[in-house]
Amino acid sequence: MTSLQGSASAPLTDAPGPAPMPLLGAAGTVIRYATDPIGFAGRIFREYGDVAMLVRAPIRVMSPNGHGVVLVNGAKHNREILTQHDRYHMYALPGRFYPEGEASPREVPVRRTMTGLFHVNDDEHRRHRRLLMPAFQKTRIDGYRDDMAALSTELVDRWRDGEVRDVHADMTELTLRIATKTLFGEDAGEDGLRLAQRMQAWLVTMFGIGMMIARDWPLLPYRRWLDLTAALDRETVAILRRKRDKGATGTDMLSALIAARDDDGTGLTEDELVGHTGVVFAAGHETSTNALAWTLLLLSQHPDVARDLADELTGALHGEAPTVDDLAKLPLLDGVVKESMRVLPPVPLHPRLVAKDSELGGYKLPKNTEIFLSIYHMHMDPDVFADPRAFSPRRWERIKPSTFEYNPFSAGPRMCIGAAFATMEIKIALATILQRFSVEMPEGSRVSPRVAITMAPAGGLRMRVVRGPGAARRAVQVRGRIRDLVRLPS
Ligand code: HEM
Repeated sequence: MTSLQGSASAPLTDAPGPAPMPLLGAAGTVIRYATDPIGFAGRIFREYGDVAMLVRAPIRVMSPNGHGVVLVNGAKHNREILTQHDRYHMYALPGRFYPEGEASPREVPVRRTMTGLFHVNDDEHRRHRRLLMPAFQKTRIDGYRDDMAALSTELVDRWRDGEVRDVHADMTELTLRIATKTLFGEDAGEDGLRLAQRMQAWLVTMFGIGMMIARDWPLLPYRRWLDLTAALDRETVAILRRKRDKGATGTDMLSALIAARDDDGTGLTEDELVGHTGVVFAAGHETSTNALAWTLLLLSQHPDVARDLADELTGALHGEAPTVDDLAKLPLLDGVVKESMRVLPPVPLHPRLVAKDSELGGYKLPKNTEIFLSIYHMHMDPDVFADPRAFSPRRWERIKPSTFEYNPFSAGPRMCIGAAFATMEIKIALATILQRFSVEMPEGSRVSPRVAITMAPAGGLRMRVVRGPGAARRAVQVRGRIRDLVRLPS
């Protein structure tokens, strides 16, 4: 297993950046960055420009081959990186915990369950992406509308007027149920929710600070993470085999993956199917959970927008969940979702690994330099978004930024394959919830973001749910670091 330390022999980028901290050196900078990635990156961009070295030392943050970390901002650089995906690679979802080369028996399930789209590059990526596309076709995604609406309705049926709930936990449960149902169909059966909970525990464990000590020793999180990976692997294989035995004719995504064929008739192997399933499952729910939770928070802080949105929804839908056709006729809902993912993007900084010696913004990026591309800071460009820190959904009636200026789902050949799925899921869930309830923050609330690839409200999001569409009369002011990212009423 790799550690945070790397070899000092390979060349490092010449981009400017902060000097190592006294005593702690580069590790000190990594710790400062890990504590507040968006705030720290913002200070670095202001001081050193849009291509800046985060750590001037051979240190591996995400990839086992990583050698120094560069932060990048701005549409121009964004386009350059995202369109040249043979030069700027992705790596496996578990980052430095993915066993490259020889894997021990305990690491084999990590490799199998996590070898999906994130791990492949160049022609291999193109081949796999082609094979996955049928599972994400519009007609197939549209077919999930009924499941999304039914599961969202089941959720709000359990809400009671005036109670304070952790809506982040609610949104996690909802998106996990939707992911399990649409990915596996009926075949996950009784085991579906357990599998979903394991996936959530797997993600939470992986991003915990205890994983700094990546040793398979009793009581260490790394051991628990390996155990969880082995269980996920076992259960996914069982569902896959059950589905194959029955002929895999369902409308679920896994059936589509089993049926997918290359031009020469080759399909995905069992190991590849398990890997893609694991990665789609992992990538496909936490992001949507966070988009939903952040949107509810923003609406609680903007009662005027919440009221207009409730009017739009009840006027067009009369209490029903939207059909696929309805979704195109709800402009404010569209603006709210876009604006929420602009000011609080579920993936605020996303990674790349330089695959061959390159140059960006006049600086050298030697092979194996790690990059974090800031979606958050790009979305704060005042030339594209006037008054960028304001949550202003109606701006979307006037603006049409390019996919390199606004891209919560990234852009280019690696753009999120689940973008249409996620957008539909988020809109159906919001339309269902907001026709039945409005949401308010309890007095004295503090909200801060926790960024670990995705951005979630640290410690959950406790909100009061009040029966009836519309809004609280006034926004209850929240404190916390969320105020550094978006302007909220004071
Ligand atoms: C609001 C929800 C979501 C957001 C904000 C989001 C965002 C992203 C981002 C930023 C990437 C990285 C693209 C890159 O490397 O350039 C990505 C990739 C990916 N996403 Fe999503 N995502 C969301 C929902 C989903 C859903 C629902 C699924 C599946 C059902 C999904 C599956 C994937 C996969 C498989 C990739 C890898 C694509 C590739 O490398 O070709 N995502 N997503």
